[in-house]
Amino acid sequence: MATASLKLDDKEYPLPVIVGTEGEKAIDTRKLRAETGYIAYDQGYGNTGSCESAITYLDGDNGVLRHRGYPIDQLAQFSDYVETAYLIIYGELPNPAKRKEFGLLLRKNAAVETQMQKIFEGFPKDAPPMAMLSSIVGSLAAHYPQLATNNFEKDLKTFDLAAAMAISKIRTIGAMIYRYQKGLPYIFPKQELPFCENFLHMMFSEPYKDYVAEPEVAKALNLLLLLHADHEQNCSTSTVRMVGSSAANLFTSLSAGISALSGPLHGGANTAVMQMLQSIHDEGDDGTRFIAAAKSGSKSNRLMGFGHPVYRNFDPRAKIIGKACDDVLKKLGIKDPLLEIAKHLEQAALKDDYFVSRKLYPNVDFYSGIIMRAIGIPTNMFTVIFAIGRAPGEIANWREVAANPKGRIYRPRQVYVGPVKRDYVPMTQRT
Ligand code: SDX
Repeated sequence: MATASLKLDDKEYPLPVIVGTEGEKAIDTRKLRAETGYIAYDQGYGNTGSCESAITYLDGDNGVLRHRGYPIDQLAQFSDYVETAYLIIYGELPNPAKRKEFGLLLRKNAAVETQMQKIFEGFPKDAPPMAMLSSIVGSLAAHYPQLATNNFEKDLKTFDLAAAMAISKIRTIGAMIYRYQKGLPYIFPKQELPFCENFLHMMFSEPYKDYVAEPEVAKALNLLLLLHADHEQNCSTSTVRMVGSSAANLFTSLSAGISALSGPLHGGANTAVMQMLQSIHDEGDDGTRFIAAAKSGSKSNRLMGFGHPVYRNFDPRAKIIGKACDDVLKKLGIKDPLLEIAKHLEQAALKDDYFVSRKLYPNVDFYSGIIMRAIGIPTNMFTVIFAIGRAPGEIANWREVAANPKGRIYRPRQVYVGPVKRDYVPMTQRT
């Protein structure tokens, strides 16, 4: 085992080096504080590994993304969302029997019970859909306490059912939020429909007239969900691990992850991209103003859908979605001016030294909204689609935490920069 050496106050401290299966190297600092009294400081953990994980491998410099070793472009071409969800959670591609069993579990657990429906009524019609989604997903722990005991051993025993229920019901709850906010009656799932077709049915059917998804529409949604299924230790997935490390149950941990995902710097970016493209279109601008503003460096003016915490090259998912955009719109006979604006924006940014020097490329959110819009998903539901897609990755990460016999509760340290010790000042002496 190689070691690193840390020289501190004239003393040398050997630190073990951990090497991952893809050759990634890490300095093991687990004993750093005990041996040196120092902690490591890494704001936002950009250079810190919080865990060893076997689910997804990212190489940000080379734009590589693999789930359990399978490259994302192969999964996008040959697999589908449900099969990829199984792979991410259980570690292997399912054989026909396992695929059938998993699909049946998803179909049997698609409905949301009447008592749970009452929760929706407690929200204003114009509530942010992600605020509704995180609350209602969290309530699954109240409605299924036998699957949410906050006891790792018991919860792992019922994991398969809880996982299938989470994936299936997060999809149904998403459709119900849409219907509730539109003032439309809920459309109940049909057990005979595949995952994406069932979602589109619950979104767009009328009480006496079923919406039957065009194959291209269902295929496009399938691709989007597959491409969002997992993405290593991103902000929301790390949140699920953090919450799960306290032995909180799967549903509660997923609710926390959905909350983290809602931020515009993260899963909320797909909505922000569309708002950006729409305002460029409405102003008859060609995006130049946005690019100029984005270079100001202020977080609120950023070119949404551009840049990434890990990728210093193209986000492979953006490439796949960007190509799919053309195919889907052509097949559906849609000409979306926002797609042309997005393409122009991409070309302009990729020639601009500000973006090139900072290695800022389109990420998964840059084109995904164009496809969602083409299949009829309203902009305020884009991040809900992201959350539906991401469920398997968050579930797999929760399971790694719950099943780790040597796991510890996540408890980062800090560098305190507040006031030093001082005595209490009675009110009479305060000015
Ligand atoms: C997702 O982690 C994941 O895997 C996430 C995700 C997943 O699947 O889970 O891939 C999903 O969250 C994709 C990202 C979606 N967010 C956006 O599209 C929002 C716009 N992008 C940025 O806000 C930003 O790029 C982040 C938040 C995504 C990444 O931020 P970092 O890694 O903290 O980058 P940074 O803030 O350190 O920026 C480095 C430099 C800064 O300039 P300088 O201080 O060096 O002068 O790049 C600039 C930033 O100002 N910069 C941008 C920019 N992103 C970074 N400038 C303009 N526009 C941008 N989009």
